[in-house]
Amino acid sequence: MKIVILGATGQVGQALLSQLPSDYCALTPSHYEVDFLVPGAISAYIADSAANLVINCVAYNQVDKAELEQDIANRINALAVEEIVAACEQLSIPLLHFSTDYVFPGKSAHISEQLYVEADTPGPINVYGQSKYRGEQAALSVAANLVLRVSWVFSEFARNMGKHIATQAMHGEPLCIATDQFGSPTYAGHIAEAVWALVPELLAGADGGLYHLSGNAAVSRFQLAQAIVDELLVQGRVDAHYKLSATTQAQWMQSANVTIAQRPHFSALACSRLAGRLGRPVTSWRMGLAALVAGI
Ligand SMILES: NC(=O)c1ccc[n+]([C@@H]2O[C@H](COP(=O)([O-])OP(=O)(O)OC[C@H]3O[C@@H](n4cnc5c(N)ncnc54)[C@H](OP(=O)(O)O)[C@@H]3O)[C@@H](O)[C@H]2O)c1
Repeated sequence: MKIVILGATGQVGQALLSQLPSDYCALTPSHYEVDFLVPGAISAYIADSAANLVINCVAYNQVDKAELEQDIANRINALAVEEIVAACEQLSIPLLHFSTDYVFPGKSAHISEQLYVEADTPGPINVYGQSKYRGEQAALSVAANLVLRVSWVFSEFARNMGKHIATQAMHGEPLCIATDQFGSPTYAGHIAEAVWALVPELLAGADGGLYHLSGNAAVSRFQLAQAIVDELLVQGRVDAHYKLSATTQAQWMQSANVTIAQRPHFSALACSRLAGRLGRPVTSWRMGLAALVAGI
């Protein structure tokens, strides 16, 4: 079976490749071979690929910069996805696509809030979220396509928030982290496990649909950062006296000297729908911390 993985150099793409089942052949065009900003490039590649499935990990993920580059974010996160959907439909093959918790407006910043379920109404409050929402809706317009909304993805691969926190802490650099922003961290390796469990069903013609995939718990940015520092301590990779500083989202936005996007205060995702399809609970984000720290 041939599977096109778009965005294989990103953290989710690298995690997928690191767990690629041996009976699949992955086609992994680079950014330069298939530039999402060039209309027609993706559909031409997919048409020539003779693939059985496409997985799209490409995204314009720079949440703050997207406020200034709305057009680019839209072209990569929405228009290009519309093109992929049409190309897959032409070949009658399914698309597995990723979306985000930032399609939601957020609830008040409180840990006891109910986690977002798939049936909750989206209402993105920043350009990145708006562009991703349009992309996921395009993907979901075809029943065979599957969309996984993931959130706060961390891993030992590529650039990401978890790796940044770990690297700064290991170098003794100060970190000031918000205590009033809650989400559900997701280890990229756990995304790969779920994807490779779902792919055989999609290849066999099962319907796709919309699913949340995250570490299945609501934690603050500060709690996530503290858990990473604690894991660094366990592995003897950080000074025993290293301390994080706490801030609030409002203070952080005020102190920044660049454009900062609004972020949901609480956007943690509930994953029971996916757990039902997988036949097992999703894996806790905490199970990914050791691999993150060991891999840096
Ligand atoms: N990271 C998170 O915290 C997070 C949270 C929620 C949802 N998600 C979603 O999860 C999915 C995977 O994210 P990720 O964290 O793996 O992203 P990532 O690490 O930022 O990787 C993005 C990928 O997109 C490629 N890319 C960017 N612009 C491109 C263009 N114009 N043409 C072709 N390729 C281009 C990059 O290639 P180069 O490196 O070669 O430029 C890279 O392979 C995305 O749909 C994202 O929206 C991520």
